[in-house]
Amino acid sequence: MNPPQTDWIVEPIVPEPIYTDRQEFLDFFYKAALNAARRLTQSTVMLGQRRMGKTEIFKRVVNRLFFEQDPAAPEAVVPVYFSFPAKQMSETRFAVDYLENFIRHYVGFYSRRPDMIVKMLAGETLLIAVEKARPLFPFTKTLDWMLEWLDSVVREDCVFPSRMAIEAPRRVAAIDDAAIAVFLDEFQNTRLPQYDFDIVGFMQEAVESPTCPHFVTGSAMSMLSREIIGRGALFGRFRGMDIKPMTGYWGAEMARKAAAYGGVEMPELMAPVVADRCGGNPFYIRAVVNQAALTLGAIPDEEAINRLLAVDLSSGFIWGELHDQVMRWIERAGRRRPHAMGVPEQMAKRQARRRGRAGTPAGAGPMDQRGHGPPGNPNVAVFPRRPDRRGRKKAREKGILWSDRKDLDALLEHLGPRPLPKLDDGGETASPGIAGPGK
Ligand SMILES: Nc1ncnc2c1ncn2[C@@H]1O[C@H](COP(=O)(O)OP(=O)(O)OP(=O)(O)O)[C@@H](O)[C@H]1O
Ligand SMILES: [Mg+2]
Repeated sequence: MNPPQTDWIVEPIVPEPIYTDRQEFLDFFYKAALNAARRLTQSTVMLGQRRMGKTEIFKRVVNRLFFEQDPAAPEAVVPVYFSFPAKQMSETRFAVDYLENFIRHYVGFYSRRPDMIVKMLAGETLLIAVEKARPLFPFTKTLDWMLEWLDSVVREDCVFPSRMAIEAPRRVAAIDDAAIAVFLDEFQNTRLPQYDFDIVGFMQEAVESPTCPHFVTGSAMSMLSREIIGRGALFGRFRGMDIKPMTGYWGAEMARKAAAYGGVEMPELMAPVVADRCGGNPFYIRAVVNQAALTLGAIPDEEAINRLLAVDLSSGFIWGELHDQVMRWIERAGRRRPHAMGVPEQMAKRQARRRGRAGTPAGAGPMDQRGHGPPGNPNVAVFPRRPDRRGRKKAREKGILWSDRKDLDALLEHLGPRPLPKLDDGGETASPGIAGPGK
Protein backbone atom coordinates (compact mmCIF):
# COMPACT_ATOMS: atom_id res chain seq x y z
CA MET A 1 0.00 0.00 0.00
CA ASN A 2 1.32 3.44 -0.86
CA PRO A 3 1.93 5.60 2.19
CA PRO A 4 -0.35 8.65 2.47
CA GLN A 5 1.44 11.60 0.91
CA THR A 6 1.64 15.10 2.32
CA ASP A 7 2.87 18.17 0.51
CA TRP A 8 5.14 18.99 3.42
CA ILE A 9 7.91 17.27 5.34
CA VAL A 10 7.68 19.67 8.29
CA GLU A 11 4.15 20.74 8.98
CA PRO A 12 3.50 24.46 8.60
CA ILE A 13 1.22 25.85 11.28
CA VAL A 14 -0.28 28.86 9.52
CA PRO A 15 -3.16 28.03 7.15
CA GLU A 16 -2.50 29.07 3.59
CA PRO A 17 -5.40 31.59 3.36
CA ILE A 18 -3.92 33.53 6.29
CA TYR A 19 -0.23 33.39 5.46
CA THR A 20 0.86 36.89 4.54
CA ASP A 21 4.01 38.59 3.27
CA ARG A 22 7.50 37.46 4.32
CA GLN A 23 8.25 36.78 0.68
CA GLU A 24 11.71 38.29 0.80
CA PHE A 25 12.70 35.89 3.59
CA LEU A 26 11.19 32.89 1.84
CA ASP A 27 13.04 33.79 -1.34
CA PHE A 28 16.28 34.63 0.40
CA PHE A 29 16.60 31.33 2.25
CA TYR A 30 15.40 29.33 -0.72
CA LYS A 31 17.98 30.89 -3.03
CA ALA A 32 20.71 30.79 -0.41
CA ALA A 33 20.11 27.06 0.01
CA LEU A 34 20.18 26.44 -3.75
CA ASN A 35 23.35 28.47 -4.09
CA ALA A 36 25.11 26.03 -1.80
CA ALA A 37 25.48 23.79 -4.85
CA ARG A 38 27.71 26.49 -6.32
CA ARG A 39 29.52 27.11 -3.01
CA LEU A 40 28.15 30.64 -2.87
CA THR A 41 26.37 30.51 0.46
CA GLN A 42 27.46 31.45 3.93
CA SER A 43 25.75 30.20 7.06
CA THR A 44 23.12 32.71 8.14
CA VAL A 45 21.27 33.51 11.34
CA MET A 46 17.78 35.00 11.27
CA LEU A 47 17.29 37.33 14.19
CA GLY A 48 14.01 38.78 15.34
CA GLN A 49 11.73 39.17 18.27
CA ARG A 50 9.46 36.41 19.41
CA ARG A 51 6.54 35.38 17.29
CA MET A 52 7.57 37.16 14.11
CA GLY A 53 7.08 34.05 12.01
CA LYS A 54 10.67 32.75 11.88
CA THR A 55 9.83 29.09 12.38
CA GLU A 56 7.10 29.27 9.77
CA ILE A 57 9.55 30.73 7.24
CA PHE A 58 12.07 27.93 7.82
CA LYS A 59 9.41 25.26 7.50
CA ARG A 60 8.05 26.68 4.27
CA VAL A 61 11.51 26.99 2.72
CA VAL A 62 12.44 23.44 3.69
CA ASN A 63 9.20 22.09 2.22
CA ARG A 64 9.73 24.01 -0.99
CA LEU A 65 13.30 22.75 -1.30
CA PHE A 66 12.11 19.21 -0.79
CA PHE A 67 9.26 19.24 -3.29
CA GLU A 68 10.43 21.66 -5.96
CA GLN A 69 13.76 20.06 -6.77
CA ASP A 70 14.61 17.03 -8.79
CA PRO A 71 16.78 14.89 -6.53
CA ALA A 72 18.48 13.38 -9.56
CA ALA A 73 19.73 16.79 -10.73
CA PRO A 74 23.44 17.20 -10.07
CA GLU A 75 22.90 20.57 -8.39
CA ALA A 76 20.11 19.34 -6.08
CA VAL A 77 20.41 20.51 -2.47
CA VAL A 78 19.26 18.26 0.37
CA PRO A 79 17.14 20.22 2.87
CA VAL A 80 17.39 19.23 6.53
CA TYR A 81 15.25 20.72 9.31
CA PHE A 82 16.03 20.23 12.97
CA SER A 83 14.53 21.92 15.99
CA PHE A 84 16.64 21.66 19.13
CA PRO A 85 14.44 20.16 21.83
CA ALA A 86 13.99 21.92 25.15
CA LYS A 87 13.91 18.58 26.90
CA GLN A 88 16.70 17.36 29.06
CA MET A 89 18.64 14.54 27.42
CA SER A 90 21.98 12.82 27.48
CA GLU A 91 24.64 13.54 24.89
CA THR A 92 24.12 10.12 23.33
CA ARG A 93 20.38 10.60 22.96
CA PHE A 94 20.88 14.01 21.45
CA ALA A 95 23.41 12.62 18.98
CA VAL A 96 21.14 9.74 17.97
CA ASP A 97 18.25 12.14 17.50
CA TYR A 98 20.30 14.55 15.37
CA LEU A 99 21.87 11.83 13.25
CA GLU A 100 18.63 9.96 12.67
CA ASN A 101 16.95 13.21 11.67
CA PHE A 102 19.73 13.82 9.13
CA ILE A 103 19.50 10.30 7.71
CA ARG A 104 15.70 10.60 7.39
CA HIS A 105 16.04 13.83 5.43
CA TYR A 106 18.92 12.63 3.28
CA VAL A 107 17.43 9.31 2.27
CA GLY A 108 13.89 10.74 2.19
CA PHE A 109 14.97 13.44 -0.26
CA TYR A 110 16.96 11.26 -2.64
CA SER A 111 14.37 8.50 -2.69
CA ARG A 112 11.40 10.92 -2.83
CA ARG A 113 9.90 9.49 0.32
CA PRO A 114 8.50 12.42 2.34
CA ASP A 115 6.74 9.92 4.59
CA MET A 116 10.12 8.82 6.00
CA ILE A 117 10.46 12.27 7.51
CA VAL A 118 6.80 12.86 8.31
CA LYS A 119 6.58 9.57 10.16
CA MET A 120 9.73 10.39 12.14
CA LEU A 121 11.08 6.92 11.55
CA ALA A 122 13.70 6.01 14.11
CA GLY A 123 15.67 3.05 15.42
CA GLU A 124 15.10 -0.29 13.71
CA THR A 125 12.24 0.97 11.55
CA LEU A 126 14.45 3.69 10.14
CA LEU A 127 17.16 1.18 9.29
CA ILE A 128 14.64 -1.05 7.53
CA ALA A 129 13.23 1.91 5.56
CA VAL A 130 16.74 2.98 4.56
CA GLU A 131 17.54 -0.48 3.24
CA LYS A 132 14.28 -0.54 1.29
CA ALA A 133 15.03 2.88 -0.17
CA ARG A 134 18.55 1.95 -1.25
CA PRO A 135 17.61 0.73 -4.74
CA LEU A 136 15.59 3.89 -5.39
CA PHE A 137 18.64 6.02 -5.82
CA PRO A 138 22.30 5.42 -6.61
CA PHE A 139 23.40 6.17 -3.07
CA THR A 140 27.12 6.45 -2.61
CA LYS A 141 29.30 4.97 0.09
CA THR A 142 28.37 7.74 2.47
CA LEU A 143 25.03 6.13 3.21
CA ASP A 144 26.85 3.17 4.72
CA TRP A 145 29.11 5.53 6.59
CA MET A 146 26.15 7.34 8.08
CA LEU A 147 24.72 4.07 9.27
CA GLU A 148 28.08 3.17 10.80
CA TRP A 149 28.27 6.51 12.57
CA LEU A 150 24.79 5.96 13.90
CA ASP A 151 25.72 2.53 15.07
CA SER A 152 28.76 3.75 16.96
CA VAL A 153 26.76 6.55 18.56
CA VAL A 154 24.00 4.14 19.61
CA ARG A 155 26.59 1.73 21.06
CA GLU A 156 28.32 4.66 22.78
CA ASP A 157 31.46 3.64 20.99
CA CYS A 158 32.81 7.13 20.35
CA VAL A 159 34.25 9.84 22.54
CA PHE A 160 32.14 12.75 21.36
CA PRO A 161 28.81 11.48 20.03
CA SER A 162 27.40 14.99 19.58
CA ARG A 163 30.40 15.95 17.45
CA MET A 164 29.91 12.88 15.31
CA ALA A 165 26.29 13.88 14.75
CA ILE A 166 26.75 17.60 14.22
CA GLU A 167 29.56 17.18 11.73
CA ALA A 168 27.82 14.44 9.75
CA PRO A 169 26.05 16.70 7.20
CA ARG A 170 29.19 18.64 6.46
CA ARG A 171 31.26 15.50 6.06
CA VAL A 172 28.73 13.87 3.76
CA ALA A 173 28.48 17.02 1.63
CA ALA A 174 32.26 17.14 1.29
CA ILE A 175 32.77 13.48 0.47
CA ASP A 176 29.82 13.18 -1.89
CA ASP A 177 30.48 16.56 -3.46
CA ALA A 178 26.82 17.23 -2.76
CA ALA A 179 25.08 20.23 -1.23
CA ILE A 180 23.12 20.07 2.00
CA ALA A 181 21.24 22.97 3.62
CA VAL A 182 20.71 22.53 7.35
CA PHE A 183 17.95 24.59 8.96
CA LEU A 184 18.24 24.76 12.75
CA ASP A 185 15.43 26.15 14.90
CA GLU A 186 15.17 26.85 18.63
CA PHE A 187 18.92 27.33 18.73
CA GLN A 188 18.73 28.80 22.23
CA ASN A 189 18.11 25.27 23.48
CA THR A 190 21.72 24.39 22.70
CA ARG A 191 22.58 26.37 25.78
CA LEU A 192 20.20 24.80 28.23
CA PRO A 193 21.74 24.62 31.67
CA GLN A 194 20.85 20.94 31.92
CA TYR A 195 23.14 19.99 29.01
CA ASP A 196 26.58 19.16 30.22
CA PHE A 197 27.90 18.82 26.70
CA ASP A 198 28.87 21.53 24.32
CA ILE A 199 26.80 21.59 21.14
CA VAL A 200 27.79 25.06 20.05
CA GLY A 201 31.50 24.33 20.38
CA PHE A 202 31.20 21.46 17.91
CA MET A 203 29.26 23.61 15.51
CA GLN A 204 32.27 25.76 14.69
CA GLU A 205 33.56 23.34 12.08
CA ALA A 206 30.18 22.13 10.92
CA VAL A 207 28.86 25.52 9.83
CA GLU A 208 31.87 26.68 7.85
CA SER A 209 31.41 24.55 4.78
CA PRO A 210 30.16 26.40 1.68
CA THR A 211 28.44 23.24 0.45
CA CYS A 212 26.71 22.68 3.76
CA PRO A 213 25.51 26.05 5.03
CA HIS A 214 23.59 26.15 8.29
CA PHE A 215 20.62 28.49 8.67
CA VAL A 216 19.86 29.21 12.26
CA THR A 217 17.06 30.84 14.18
CA GLY A 218 15.38 30.63 17.55
CA SER A 219 13.32 32.63 19.93
CA ALA A 220 15.85 34.13 22.31
CA MET A 221 17.35 36.89 20.25
CA SER A 222 19.90 37.93 22.84
CA MET A 223 21.34 34.41 23.05
CA LEU A 224 21.55 34.15 19.28
CA SER A 225 23.24 37.49 19.01
CA ARG A 226 25.64 36.70 21.80
CA GLU A 227 26.67 33.27 20.52
CA ILE A 228 26.60 33.94 16.83
CA ILE A 229 26.92 37.60 16.05
CA GLY A 230 28.67 38.60 19.25
CA ARG A 231 31.95 37.25 20.48
CA GLY A 232 30.60 33.78 21.28
CA ALA A 233 31.80 30.44 20.00
CA LEU A 234 30.44 31.00 16.50
CA PHE A 235 31.59 34.57 16.06
CA GLY A 236 32.46 35.49 12.48
CA ARG A 237 31.01 32.37 10.92
CA PHE A 238 27.53 33.67 10.15
CA ARG A 239 25.93 36.50 8.32
CA GLY A 240 22.96 38.03 10.10
CA MET A 241 19.49 38.72 8.80
CA ASP A 242 16.95 40.69 10.77
CA ILE A 243 13.26 40.02 10.67
CA LYS A 244 11.05 42.92 11.69
CA PRO A 245 7.37 43.24 12.49
CA MET A 246 5.04 43.35 9.52
CA THR A 247 4.67 46.75 7.92
CA GLY A 248 1.37 48.59 8.40
CA TYR A 249 0.32 47.51 4.93
CA TRP A 250 1.00 43.79 5.41
CA GLY A 251 -0.24 43.80 9.00
CA ALA A 252 -3.57 45.18 7.82
CA GLU A 253 -3.67 42.67 4.99
CA MET A 254 -3.08 39.87 7.46
CA ALA A 255 -5.81 41.17 9.79
CA ARG A 256 -8.20 41.16 6.83
CA LYS A 257 -7.28 37.64 5.82
CA ALA A 258 -7.50 36.34 9.39
CA ALA A 259 -10.91 37.97 9.87
CA ALA A 260 -12.24 36.50 6.64
CA TYR A 261 -10.85 33.08 7.56
CA GLY A 262 -12.38 33.18 11.05
CA GLY A 263 -15.71 34.56 9.88
CA VAL A 264 -15.19 37.76 11.86
CA GLU A 265 -16.93 40.86 10.62
CA MET A 266 -14.54 43.76 10.40
CA PRO A 267 -14.98 47.04 8.59
CA GLU A 268 -12.18 47.80 6.17
CA LEU A 269 -11.09 50.75 8.31
CA MET A 270 -10.35 48.55 11.31
CA ALA A 271 -7.74 46.35 9.62
CA PRO A 272 -4.90 48.88 9.95
CA VAL A 273 -5.98 49.65 13.51
CA VAL A 274 -5.71 45.99 14.53
CA ALA A 275 -2.29 45.78 12.87
CA ASP A 276 -1.15 48.94 14.59
CA ARG A 277 -2.36 47.91 18.03
CA CYS A 278 -0.56 44.59 17.63
CA GLY A 279 2.67 46.27 16.61
CA GLY A 280 2.69 44.35 13.32
CA ASN A 281 3.30 41.12 15.25
CA PRO A 282 1.54 38.34 13.31
CA PHE A 283 0.91 36.21 16.37
CA TYR A 284 -0.90 39.04 18.17
CA ILE A 285 -2.92 39.96 15.11
CA ARG A 286 -4.05 36.37 14.87
CA ALA A 287 -4.76 36.22 18.60
CA VAL A 288 -6.96 39.30 18.52
CA VAL A 289 -8.94 38.07 15.52
CA ASN A 290 -9.28 34.58 17.01
CA GLN A 291 -10.49 36.08 20.25
CA ALA A 292 -13.06 38.04 18.26
CA ALA A 293 -14.18 34.84 16.55
CA LEU A 294 -14.72 33.25 19.94
CA THR A 295 -16.43 36.16 21.62
CA LEU A 296 -17.78 39.23 19.83
CA GLY A 297 -17.88 37.71 16.37
CA ALA A 298 -16.91 41.11 15.01
CA ILE A 299 -14.39 43.91 15.37
CA PRO A 300 -16.59 46.92 14.70
CA ASP A 301 -14.47 49.65 16.32
CA GLU A 302 -11.40 50.41 18.42
CA GLU A 303 -13.37 49.95 21.61
CA ALA A 304 -13.91 46.33 20.58
CA ILE A 305 -10.17 45.92 20.06
CA ASN A 306 -9.55 47.20 23.58
CA ARG A 307 -11.98 44.68 24.95
CA LEU A 308 -10.55 41.84 22.89
CA LEU A 309 -7.02 42.68 23.92
CA ALA A 310 -7.97 42.82 27.56
CA VAL A 311 -9.71 39.47 27.41
CA ASP A 312 -6.89 37.90 25.50
CA LEU A 313 -4.19 39.28 27.74
CA SER A 314 -5.94 37.89 30.76
CA SER A 315 -6.97 34.47 29.58
CA GLY A 316 -6.53 33.93 25.89
CA PHE A 317 -3.91 33.13 23.32
CA ILE A 318 -1.61 35.95 24.36
CA TRP A 319 -1.98 34.93 27.98
CA GLY A 320 -0.87 31.44 27.00
CA GLU A 321 2.07 32.80 25.10
CA LEU A 322 3.17 35.04 27.95
CA HIS A 323 2.73 32.27 30.42
CA ASP A 324 4.95 30.04 28.33
CA GLN A 325 7.58 32.73 27.99
CA VAL A 326 7.61 33.65 31.64
CA MET A 327 7.70 30.05 32.82
CA ARG A 328 10.64 29.26 30.58
CA TRP A 329 12.34 32.38 31.71
CA ILE A 330 11.87 31.43 35.36
CA GLU A 331 13.24 27.97 34.63
CA ARG A 332 16.24 29.44 32.93
CA ALA A 333 16.89 31.97 35.64
CA GLY A 334 17.51 28.99 37.89
CA ARG A 335 14.21 29.68 39.63
CA ARG A 336 15.40 33.06 40.80
CA ARG A 337 12.55 35.50 41.08
CA PRO A 338 12.61 37.85 38.16
CA HIS A 339 12.42 40.86 40.39
CA ALA A 340 11.34 43.44 37.88
CA MET A 341 7.93 41.82 37.48
CA GLY A 342 5.67 44.13 39.34
CA VAL A 343 3.14 46.84 39.14
CA PRO A 344 3.16 48.29 35.67
CA GLU A 345 2.77 51.89 36.74
CA GLN A 346 5.82 51.65 38.92
CA MET A 347 7.77 50.05 36.16
CA ALA A 348 6.58 52.61 33.68
CA LYS A 349 7.55 55.43 36.03
CA ARG A 350 10.92 53.91 36.72
CA GLN A 351 11.55 53.52 33.04
CA ALA A 352 10.25 56.95 32.26
CA ARG A 353 12.55 58.41 34.90
CA ARG A 354 15.47 56.50 33.51
CA ARG A 355 14.74 57.58 30.00
CA GLY A 356 13.65 61.03 30.98
CA ARG A 357 10.28 60.92 29.30
CA ALA A 358 6.84 59.54 29.91
CA GLY A 359 4.82 57.09 27.88
CA THR A 360 7.56 54.54 27.35
CA PRO A 361 6.27 51.01 27.46
CA ALA A 362 6.84 48.97 30.57
CA GLY A 363 8.67 45.87 29.58
CA ALA A 364 11.66 43.72 30.25
CA GLY A 365 14.31 46.14 29.05
CA PRO A 366 15.82 47.03 32.40
CA MET A 367 16.11 43.42 33.41
CA ASP A 368 18.14 42.63 30.35
CA GLN A 369 20.47 45.44 31.19
CA ARG A 370 20.98 44.07 34.67
CA GLY A 371 22.06 40.88 33.05
CA HIS A 372 19.78 38.44 34.79
CA GLY A 373 16.42 39.13 33.35
CA PRO A 374 14.85 37.27 30.51
CA PRO A 375 17.26 36.76 27.66
CA GLY A 376 14.65 38.14 25.30
CA ASN A 377 12.83 41.28 24.45
CA PRO A 378 9.61 42.80 25.61
CA ASN A 379 6.86 42.27 23.17
CA VAL A 380 3.88 43.23 25.25
CA ALA A 381 3.61 46.53 26.98
CA VAL A 382 0.95 48.03 29.15
CA PHE A 383 0.92 51.78 29.02
CA PRO A 384 -0.28 53.84 31.98
CA ARG A 385 -2.44 55.76 29.54
CA ARG A 386 -3.08 55.75 25.85
CA PRO A 387 0.35 56.35 24.34
CA ASP A 388 0.93 59.41 22.25
CA ARG A 389 1.93 59.18 18.63
CA ARG A 390 5.58 58.75 19.47
CA GLY A 391 4.77 55.96 21.90
CA ARG A 392 2.65 54.21 19.32
CA LYS A 393 5.36 54.57 16.71
CA LYS A 394 7.86 53.08 19.08
CA ALA A 395 5.55 50.18 19.79
CA ARG A 396 5.19 49.58 16.09
CA GLU A 397 8.92 49.75 15.48
CA LYS A 398 9.63 47.27 18.23
CA GLY A 399 6.83 44.95 17.23
CA ILE A 400 5.16 45.13 20.62
CA LEU A 401 1.51 45.11 21.36
CA TRP A 402 0.16 47.79 23.59
CA SER A 403 -2.83 48.08 25.76
CA ASP A 404 -4.41 50.98 27.51
CA ARG A 405 -4.07 50.52 31.24
CA LYS A 406 -7.49 51.99 32.06
CA ASP A 407 -9.37 49.61 29.78
CA LEU A 408 -7.33 46.74 30.93
CA ASP A 409 -7.89 47.40 34.62
CA ALA A 410 -11.62 47.72 34.24
CA LEU A 411 -11.85 44.56 32.27
CA LEU A 412 -9.48 42.51 34.35
CA GLU A 413 -11.48 43.41 37.41
CA HIS A 414 -14.64 42.39 35.69
CA LEU A 415 -13.23 39.15 34.34
CA GLY A 416 -10.99 38.13 37.18
CA PRO A 417 -7.60 37.66 35.56
CA ARG A 418 -5.95 34.29 35.52
CA PRO A 419 -2.83 34.95 37.52
CA LEU A 420 0.47 33.52 36.50
CA PRO A 421 1.56 30.72 38.81
CA LYS A 422 3.08 31.84 42.08
CA LEU A 423 6.78 32.34 42.02
CA ASP A 424 8.86 30.31 44.40
CA ASP A 425 10.44 32.84 46.63
CA GLY A 426 8.03 35.52 47.51
CA GLY A 427 4.71 34.27 46.42
CA GLU A 428 4.19 37.30 44.23
CA THR A 429 1.99 36.76 41.29
CA ALA A 430 2.35 38.62 38.10
CA SER A 431 -0.46 39.60 35.89
CA PRO A 432 -0.02 38.82 32.23
CA GLY A 433 0.81 41.82 30.21
CA ILE A 434 2.74 43.25 33.09
CA ALA A 435 5.70 40.99 32.91
CA GLY A 436 8.31 41.68 30.34
CA PRO A 437 8.44 38.38 28.57
CA GLY A 438 11.33 36.57 27.08
CA LYS A 439 12.68 33.08 27.17
N1 LIG B 1 3.45 35.34 7.58
C1 LIG B 1 2.49 35.07 8.46
N2 LIG B 1 1.19 35.25 8.14
C2 LIG B 1 0.22 34.99 9.04
N3 LIG B 1 0.44 34.58 10.30
C3 LIG B 1 1.70 34.38 10.69
C4 LIG B 1 2.79 34.62 9.79
N4 LIG B 1 3.93 34.36 10.43
C5 LIG B 1 3.58 33.97 11.67
N5 LIG B 1 2.24 33.98 11.84
C6 LIG B 1 1.52 33.73 13.09
O1 LIG B 1 2.43 33.89 14.14
C7 LIG B 1 2.58 32.68 14.86
C8 LIG B 1 4.01 32.53 15.28
O2 LIG B 1 4.80 32.16 14.18
P1 LIG B 1 6.19 31.41 14.41
O3 LIG B 1 6.06 30.33 15.42
O4 LIG B 1 6.72 31.04 13.07
O5 LIG B 1 7.03 32.60 15.03
P2 LIG B 1 8.52 32.56 15.60
O6 LIG B 1 9.16 33.82 15.19
O7 LIG B 1 9.19 31.29 15.21
O8 LIG B 1 8.22 32.54 17.16
P3 LIG B 1 9.25 32.20 18.34
O9 LIG B 1 10.09 33.42 18.51
O10 LIG B 1 8.38 31.95 19.52
O11 LIG B 1 10.04 31.00 17.93
C9 LIG B 1 2.04 31.61 13.95
O12 LIG B 1 1.52 30.52 14.62
C10 LIG B 1 0.96 32.35 13.20
O13 LIG B 1 -0.21 32.40 13.96
MG1 LIG C 1 10.02 29.80 16.38
